[in-house]
Amino acid sequence: MSVVALCSAHGAPGVTTAALALCWSWPQARPGRRVLLVDADPAGSGLLTGYLSPGVPDSVGVSVLAAARGALTPEQVIGCSLALDAEGARMVLPGVADPVQARPLGSMWTALVSAARDLSDAGVDVVVDVGRVGHQFEPRVWLTQADLVGVVVAGTVASVAPAAAAVRGLAVERTGRLAPVGVVTDAGGYSRVQIAEAMGVTEVLELAADEWAARAFAAGEVAGWRFERSPLLRAARAAVERVGALVPERAVLR
Ligand SMILES: Nc1ncnc2c1ncn2[C@@H]1O[C@H](COP(=O)(O)OP(=O)(O)O)[C@@H](O)[C@H]1O
Ligand SMILES: [Mg+2]
Repeated sequence: MSVVALCSAHGAPGVTTAALALCWSWPQARPGRRVLLVDADPAGSGLLTGYLSPGVPDSVGVSVLAAARGALTPEQVIGCSLALDAEGARMVLPGVADPVQARPLGSMWTALVSAARDLSDAGVDVVVDVGRVGHQFEPRVWLTQADLVGVVVAGTVASVAPAAAAVRGLAVERTGRLAPVGVVTDAGGYSRVQIAEAMGVTEVLELAADEWAARAFAAGEVAGWRFERSPLLRAARAAVERVGALVPERAVLR
């Protein structure tokens, strides 16, 4: 276990919220494992405008890592990340605020994918928010190399039809790896089987339409029993357990 990359094909179906929810639930659903959320959306971070909007120090983030050049150690990666809890069981590597800052990150992403293998061996799984596929500075390497890729959709034709095209494209590039899975944030009355068929996937991880918890994440208000018991957090814990079953042990980026 494991590197999980999340992306979308159209609109804003909730990739950033899904990545945060998986990250938050990770140590609960996978006891003994820690998690690093990598904020890799080249169109501009949804975390810096949401969960991390109080601000991050200049000493952290993907641009600081890129300045290091060359291979990256797990210590360097964690040194450029922020702990989201007192134990450091959940961490985040902040991304870029502006798409122009994504241009020079290409070789850093390749080095970071390698470092993710070492992080995983050291007990830190990685969840990546890749944003929408097709961006000029897309960190494609996460989508081709991750142990599991989730294409995030809402349960509408407008969301699912472009996602099916993205699934087909990714499947070709992931020959020999697990096929892309669907991640649905708001099934909109469709069943999991209907969404799987429409997307052309065999597996759909179902989160929950939960405006309250989604807003709590964006506001960084992630404490309290109501939050932990919210539909989104319950579904996210189940999704992380399912990821654990789907990704074979030691499959990491080999
Ligand atoms: N599971 C969800 N249930 C309800 N609203 C959601 C959910 N996930 C995201 N949202 C809302 O949808 C909007 C876009 O979410 P975000 O996670 O930023 O999407 P993306 O990263 O795909 O652009 C935000 O207003 C967010 O609060
Ligand atoms: Mg986003």
